[in-house]
Amino acid sequence: MLTIEPNGATLGATVRGVDLAKPLSDADFGQILKALGDRAVLRFPDQHLEPIDVYRFSIRFGEIQGPSRVDPNGAIDPLAYVGILSNIKENGEYIGSPDAGQDWHTDMSYRDVRGFVNVLYGIHIPRRNGLALGGTEFGDMAAAYDALPGALKLQLENMTATHDFEKFWEHMRQDRNSGRPAMTPEQRKRRQPVVHKLILTHPISGRKILYCNPGYATRINELSASESDAMLAFLFAHQLEMRFRHTHVWNENDLLVWDHLSTIHRAIDDYGPDEIRLMRRCQVMATKVFDPAFLRPALLAA
Ligand code: SIN
Repeated sequence: MLTIEPNGATLGATVRGVDLAKPLSDADFGQILKALGDRAVLRFPDQHLEPIDVYRFSIRFGEIQGPSRVDPNGAIDPLAYVGILSNIKENGEYIGSPDAGQDWHTDMSYRDVRGFVNVLYGIHIPRRNGLALGGTEFGDMAAAYDALPGALKLQLENMTATHDFEKFWEHMRQDRNSGRPAMTPEQRKRRQPVVHKLILTHPISGRKILYCNPGYATRINELSASESDAMLAFLFAHQLEMRFRHTHVWNENDLLVWDHLSTIHRAIDDYGPDEIRLMRRCQVMATKVFDPAFLRPALLAA
């Protein structure tokens, strides 16, 4: 039987009693979706999954970002949607992204159709003196919204923020020593900045969320440039307060699912090049979760 044990933070829970290598019943999926709305970050320990299992689980939540490759006759291999995050090199080349998400951000807030969930499966976790490194830290943006002063909530209610992919990319290059090349004009054209409302009503929980993140938010559009800079500096400091945070300390065979709509996160880069980290990842877009025809029956099945 599936159980959900909340942890001590404002977000996060451990889910037991389900084997994600097997087909997931509608009732279990409904419970997981509901728990995602309530707790935002779900850990499924001791899962033994092939990449295809990670894909099959992820696709239940919506369209998966990708694919990273299409075969020459146009067929798309599901496994092309399951990415690799790792500092492993083979023949001098990284086998996946070595420094993905290593500062505060929300995945795909820079797209018109935002990210909904990240599904990350821990295959090899770096350890030093027996302690796991390379954790993933989260900030609870429903709690951050709740803690804003009432007058500010009213002021922000109808405001919008611009989100720009290049902001995080350049931050990694300039401030974090990432070996990424500068974006090409072609990449820039494909990744035009987008605008989202600053305050989002969560489709599952109904809670209000501060939808803004230091990685990609560049401007509050209804304010002057200087007012926007000051407001963003305030909001970024507010959302990083320790009272909203929770760190997931990884174990091998953890599957972690988190809700991008209600969180910010970062990958903690506290391990060296010889301390191997290997994860499999699917990024699911919010193509279904705002659609009542998907959400209602899914939650009713719980
Ligand atoms: C990410 O930002 O998607 C990566 C998180 C992690 O590797 O811990």
